[in-house]
Amino acid sequence: MELRNKKALITGAGKGIGKAIAIALAKEGVHLGIIARSSADLETLQEELTTAYGVDVFIATADIAIQTEVDEAVTALSSRLGSIDILINNAGTAQFGTLIDMEPAHWERIIQTNLMGTYYMTRAVLPALLSQSSGSIINIASTAGERGFATGSAYCASKFAVLGMTEALMQEVRKSNIRVTALTPSTVNTELAVNTGLKIGDEDRMMQPEDVAELVLVTLKLPDRVFIKTAGIWTTNPQ
Ligand SMILES: NC(=O)c1ccc[n+]([C@@H]2O[C@H](COP(=O)([O-])OP(=O)(O)OC[C@H]3O[C@@H](n4cnc5c(N)ncnc54)[C@H](OP(=O)(O)O)[C@@H]3O)[C@@H](O)[C@H]2O)c1
Repeated sequence: MELRNKKALITGAGKGIGKAIAIALAKEGVHLGIIARSSADLETLQEELTTAYGVDVFIATADIAIQTEVDEAVTALSSRLGSIDILINNAGTAQFGTLIDMEPAHWERIIQTNLMGTYYMTRAVLPALLSQSSGSIINIASTAGERGFATGSAYCASKFAVLGMTEALMQEVRKSNIRVTALTPSTVNTELAVNTGLKIGDEDRMMQPEDVAELVLVTLKLPDRVFIKTAGIWTTNPQ
C-alpha cells in the first residue's frame, strides 16, 4: 500500500520506539499527529520532520491514561490533519517489582496507561476509520504480553490485556477493511529499558527502536487485503 499523504496518529512519539516510527513514516511522506505528555520532545521532532521531509506534523500533549485528554487530543489533531488512516498505539510505561512490593497506585497506573490508554485512543479514532471503511491500527505490545515473568505482574497483565483487546477488535472490524495488528518486541534499546534495568546483553547487538519501526512499515505497506495479526520481534543478541 502506498503510504504517501496518508495521515497517522502516534502516541508516545517523543522518544524511543514512537519517535523512530514517526521518523520512518515521515520519510514515507505520511502526515503526522504526535502525542505525548511533555511538549519539548514533540516540538523538536516536529521541527526535524517538517524540515527534512516536508510533511505536516501536528502536536497534542495528553496523558493517554485520561480519557478526556485523549478525546481532546484526537479531536484537535483530526481537525488539523483531516481523516486519519493509521493509529499507532505505542505510548506505554513499565515498572517492575513483586506483586506484594509494588504499590497498588503504581500497579494501577501501568494498567491505566498501557491498557486503558490504548483503549481510549482506539475508541476515539475508530469511528472515523469505520466511516471511511479503511485504516490500520498497530498496537505496540510486548513479549511480556505472551509470557509472564517474576516482578512483571502489572506490566505483563497490561500487555496480555492489550493482546486480547487487539485480537477481539481485529475480529470486530476486519470485515470493515480495518486492519488491527499487535507487535510484540522483546527488549529494545530505549529509556524505558534502561530506566527499568531491562537493558542486558551486548549493546551493539540490542534491538533498536528503528528495527521496530521497520516492521511497522512492512505491516502498513502490505496490500489492503491482508494484515499481520501478531508479530514477535526478537533479537539475535544473546541475553
Ligand atoms: N523498550 C522496550 O524494551 C520495549 C519492549 C517491548 C515493548 N515496549 C513497548 O513499546 C512502547 C514504547 O516504549 P519505549 O521503550 O519507546 O518507551 P520510552 O522510551 O519510555 O518512550 C515512551 C514515550 O511514550 C510517552 N508516554 C509515556 N507515558 C505516556 C502517557 N501516559 N501518555 C502519553 N504519552 C506517554 C513518553 O513521553 P512523555 O513522558 O512526555 O509522556 C515517550 O514519548 C511501550 O508501550 C512499551 O511498553 C518496549
